[in-house]
Amino acid sequence: MALKLENVSKTYTRNGLDVLALQEGSCSIEPGQFIAVCGPSGCGKSTLLQVSGGLMRPDAGTVTLDDQDIYALSADERAGFRGASLGFVFQQFHLVPYLNVLENVLVASLALPAKSPASQRDARDRGLALIDRFGLRDRAFHRAAQLSTGERQRVALARALLNEPRFILADEPTGNLDEANGEEVLRHLAECAEQGTGVLLVTHDARAAEVASRVVEMEAGSIRDEAMPWGVA
Ligand SMILES: Nc1ncnc2c1ncn2[C@@H]1O[C@H](COP(=O)(O)OP(=O)(O)O)[C@@H](O)[C@H]1O
Ligand SMILES: [Mg+2]
Repeated sequence: MALKLENVSKTYTRNGLDVLALQEGSCSIEPGQFIAVCGPSGCGKSTLLQVSGGLMRPDAGTVTLDDQDIYALSADERAGFRGASLGFVFQQFHLVPYLNVLENVLVASLALPAKSPASQRDARDRGLALIDRFGLRDRAFHRAAQLSTGERQRVALARALLNEPRFILADEPTGNLDEANGEEVLRHLAECAEQGTGVLLVTHDARAAEVASRVVEMEAGSIRDEAMPWGVA
């Protein structure tokens, strides 16, 4: 039941020059694990996260979830699979400013392949429960634009969890938050892992090492996950 990257590479072309962002990277994460991929700006963390989440096809290598090669699926199949199995959290929150908190959380239910009126009702109940869990009950019907940054990131967390994903992928989720709100988000991610969700966090936030079950260092496009047999030098 793992999300597994094997020998994944990605090169961007910018102004006619090649930028090698990911070089034969391998990494594996299972439900209940909390892996923090740490490294300096520009080392390829966001590239790794997008490739892992089915958002960007690598030039080489494979990404599998439960032995299914996610880039062998059609774009539609991959989108459905992403909506059902993965939740994303980003540095910039990516909320819809004119929708309220509950509506923002329920946006995730649109990503599910099969929608029945009953599952939509369930989604509303689950959304409200998550809003409660993240201390936003009084804010449920306020527009996202009216929230503080800490509150916005907790809405994004609730949205990521709505479909009960098996993995949460987070890209610098503390990057725009003050210390207290950043620590709160990391605590929530750790709690998700304790409850059985796999958490893949990419960040340069050193505090991630304190909450993650495993820290993987990344440098200049190289990732070495010692838990992978081919990741050992
Ligand atoms: N769309 C893109 N086009 C060209 N170069 C890119 C693009 N996205 C990222 N890069 C480059 O790839 C490298 C890795 O970027 P990124 O994955 O964003 O690293 P990080 O998230 O660790 O800061 C950097 O040199 C960056 O400038
Ligand atoms: Mg980045």
